[in-house]
Amino acid sequence: MLETAAFYADGLAEELIGRVVARVGRERLFIVTKLLPYSLANEDSAIKAVQASLRRLRTNYVDLLLVYGIHEILPIQHQIRILEMLAEMGYTRYIGVGSYRVKDLKEAIESVRKYSIVVNQVVYNVFNKRIERDMLPFSIKNNILVQACRPLDGGSVVRHPLLIKIANNYKKTPAQIALNFLISRPNVAAIVKSEQKNHVLEIGGAMGWRLNISDIELLESL
Ligand SMILES: NC(=O)c1ccc[n+]([C@@H]2O[C@H](COP(=O)([O-])OP(=O)(O)OC[C@H]3O[C@@H](n4cnc5c(N)ncnc54)[C@H](OP(=O)(O)O)[C@@H]3O)[C@@H](O)[C@H]2O)c1
Repeated sequence: MLETAAFYADGLAEELIGRVVARVGRERLFIVTKLLPYSLANEDSAIKAVQASLRRLRTNYVDLLLVYGIHEILPIQHQIRILEMLAEMGYTRYIGVGSYRVKDLKEAIESVRKYSIVVNQVVYNVFNKRIERDMLPFSIKNNILVQACRPLDGGSVVRHPLLIKIANNYKKTPAQIALNFLISRPNVAAIVKSEQKNHVLEIGGAMGWRLNISDIELLESL
């Protein structure tokens, strides 16, 4: 799963993923990209925006297309209908949202006609558990995957004494502990950013095992 956005580095991030597509083959990847709400202002602008992303990504469809953030004027209902149109046209398999609050997500769910909102991408990490109050229970109830962005708090988790202590007990690293905590929750996946191969391999080691309940409770108290 590779996650990017039309607006990262003016499209360069999508172009880099396009090179990966050309090298490893489209069918081996699950590609997620994001558009900003203004791109969904009307049908023409939305089609142009998604086609530009697909050109950069060197593919004719993405697996998941998100609208990221709230627009002051453009209603959510309108944006979701346009996303559905793009799915209907075959540009994406699934649709979702990013940085939505519960009330926005409710509105999005009520706006869909044929498709489902499958993802909400929100900040979630061991230091910032705000979504546990209402967003996470709401997402679980409505079968929406939370994609935790900023899952390592930008990398700062590796310096926290409690994470270092727990990591030593498991012979894991603090980053792996921080990520395992997130994915121990139902309906939560983590999207980590790294530019270093050794970090990417380390991130892979966050999966395939579980923290004990007592350590999860310690991390809950952070
Ligand atoms: N931040 C947001 O508000 C936001 C919003 C929407 C979507 N997202 C998505 O979420 C992704 C991740 O968010 P983020 O980049 O803000 O935060 P993040 O993933 O929590 O942190 C990334 C930082 O952690 C470092 N890192 C990665 N693996 C590490 C490891 N094993 N050990 C130590 N440090 C490590 C990275 O450095 P190296 O590169 O040197 O490894 C990078 O500086 C983004 O790429 C984006 O696609 C974020």
